[in-house]
Amino acid sequence: MTDNTVRQLKTDLPDLESYWMPFTGNRYFKENPRMIARAEGMYCYTTDGKKLLDGVAGLWCCNAGHCNPKIVEAIKAQAEKLDYSMAFQLSHPTVFELANRLTDLAPDGLDYAFFVNSGSEAVDTALKMALAYHRTRGEAARTRFIGREKGYHGVGFGGISVGGLSPNRKMFGTMLPGVDHLPHTHNVEKNAFSKGLPQWGGHLADELENIIALHDASTVAAVIVEPIAGSAGVLLPPEGYLKRLRKICDKHGILLIFDEVICGFGRTGDTFGAARFDVTPDLMTLAKGLTSGTVPMGGVLASKHIYDTFMTGPDGAIEFFHGYTYSGHPLAAAAGCAALDVYVDDGLFERAASMEGKFTDALHSLKGEPNVIDVRSIGLIGAVELESIEGQPTARAMSVFRDCYDNGVIVRTTGDTLAFSPPLIINDAEIEMMIETVRTALRTQ
Ligand SMILES: Cc1ncc(COP(=O)(O)O)c(C=O)c1O
Repeated sequence: MTDNTVRQLKTDLPDLESYWMPFTGNRYFKENPRMIARAEGMYCYTTDGKKLLDGVAGLWCCNAGHCNPKIVEAIKAQAEKLDYSMAFQLSHPTVFELANRLTDLAPDGLDYAFFVNSGSEAVDTALKMALAYHRTRGEAARTRFIGREKGYHGVGFGGISVGGLSPNRKMFGTMLPGVDHLPHTHNVEKNAFSKGLPQWGGHLADELENIIALHDASTVAAVIVEPIAGSAGVLLPPEGYLKRLRKICDKHGILLIFDEVICGFGRTGDTFGAARFDVTPDLMTLAKGLTSGTVPMGGVLASKHIYDTFMTGPDGAIEFFHGYTYSGHPLAAAAGCAALDVYVDDGLFERAASMEGKFTDALHSLKGEPNVIDVRSIGLIGAVELESIEGQPTARAMSVFRDCYDNGVIVRTTGDTLAFSPPLIINDAEIEMMIETVRTALRTQ
């Protein structure tokens, strides 16, 4: 952006001071604002008239593309009919419809849906479900959680405790007690430029046995991992890794939670990561693509066994003391049903699978470009990792991000990794345009 454009843009905008932006360098942003005015399909349009190809579907969420007319229409219709209904002891039909359709779509065995408003709430809900489940069945000593280094599970206290990204943890005290972490699986030396799942690293799942031995299985409630770690830079599970985790959890009566906030709804080229990797967890967290990013909503899918464990006690008694004012909000539920319609009617999960080859080849064509040290992808999620500038971690990727933005493409950076997760409607020409813009940016650093 030229100085003139920035000056012009700032005069057309409201005062920027009062809004404290999330996960953003506020001072830099307010000096150099990048504002989206509207969006449609694959594209966002800025307040100063720029057209941007959205290479990350918002924040890994607008899987059906922006402002899909069927979803927009469903939200409007619902807003006109029912704005809100009490979420506790009363409800409304649309949320039951969504639960039915979601559990039909989910892997067999995940038969119940609990709704929340974000991925972070979904994670905290799943952790609480795991604790309460064990307590209800008489194993109240099972209070420990095992997460994974580099894991991202949102920003609630539960999520940052089981998460493994130090900047998200270090400011916030001691968090939940009794949490341990598996080693992460990222290894550029062993797995750089793997196509498909990395071959090295399946054995890292066996570390779970050591952690369990240290604490004793009788104290462990659940293991939580993202099937693909998204926010840490798209780290794919090594071949066999998730199956090994499942086996070890089963052996010790420990619940396995998949955090599918990013992996769900076609992102991996299948309905969910669980389906793609053929491993069914006991609890699965969802958000983002659930409403294609249109209305905030998250959810936890639970196995019948877990649900049934709670369904005891006197008739009419509350079985799980948990929920949010906006759990299953009518607008979110309507958006969720409409998003599922679009995914199914437009065949978007199949489309993601069919575009995987083109997307993979395009991303891998960046091998050999300046400072590219790894490329990895599956379905329509991928990453290009860059060599950091000495003493300035994140600077190189951020510079590529700004260059791509100036040249019409939104990518996401995490550390010195560029992440890609376009809407599932992306076509061949758009993949090409996205990758060529990145290539040019890499060459001009
Ligand atoms: C795997 C995972 N879990 C949880 C979250 C948190 O979701 P939210 O930002 O909706 O709270 C995210 C967000 O990116 C995520 O990627």
